Amino acid sequence: MMSADGQAQRPIGIFDSGLGGLTVVQAIRRDLPSEHVTYLGDTARVPYGTRSPDTVVRYARACARALTRRQIKALVVACNTVSAVALDLLSAELDVPVMGVIEPGAVAAVQAAEELGCERIGVLGTASTISSGAYPAAVARLSTRIEVICEPAPLLVPLAEEGWTDGQVPELAAERYLRPLVDANARVIVLGCTHYPLLHDVIESVARRLAGREITIVDSAKATATSLGGLLSAKGLAQSEPGPGSAELTVTDVPKSFAAVAGRFLGAEVPKVRQIDLTTA
Ligand code: DGL
Repeated sequence: MMSADGQAQRPIGIFDSGLGGLTVVQAIRRDLPSEHVTYLGDTARVPYGTRSPDTVVRYARACARALTRRQIKALVVACNTVSAVALDLLSAELDVPVMGVIEPGAVAAVQAAEELGCERIGVLGTASTISSGAYPAAVARLSTRIEVICEPAPLLVPLAEEGWTDGQVPELAAERYLRPLVDANARVIVLGCTHYPLLHDVIESVARRLAGREITIVDSAKATATSLGGLLSAKGLAQSEPGPGSAELTVTDVPKSFAAVAGRFLGAEVPKVRQIDLTTA
């Protein structure tokens, strides 16, 4: 059997339906720079957020299987939709620790709301994430006082995938989705989809304009990286080699925007993107 120290040298597997999970890769690379990460974006089948839970579970199992074959030491589900509908199942089926993005996002949002003394958190997410009720459930486990107002924001995903992250079109879409949250007095808004941090600046400026005051935007990618550090240490799986880590990027299809967005997120270190076939990977 491999020692905990041997396992610690293994990569962290991360997957998302597309390029949104790169926001989680970026946060992990920043917080845990000695770790090796291997990423899978299921770009051939994005979006997941409009599909039935059964389909999302099937896709999630295929992604998890491809990553566990790479001898990963932990799996990060960098997709809110999969975290909402398939996290318990993946945790039960895999023999590596599995973490999603909803719990860390909820913890960060409750903390922000408590600091501001406000009782309403707004959540933007895909239709599947919102209809799963996963965010209200996660917040209810942390606070009985805080209410969660949810709004599906499906058009933000194709805008992010297209790299259309500023200007009139994303502003109008953001305004349409944010208005009910701001009208309900939510002063903390969770980006409950890993694609939305690509539109962070638009969402923040529109929310502040509509509210006429500061609004705290919670990006679950950052919160996930912090929780992952704690999980790896607790399990004795934190990388013990001090050298720089690495990032491997794989996708199931190569959209034009992937390399450009990867460059924006990972900067100069952006590795070559490799295309894989999930039926044989
Ligand atoms: N990455 C997905 C999520 O966080 C959004 C994109 C999709 O619908 O697949 O929910």
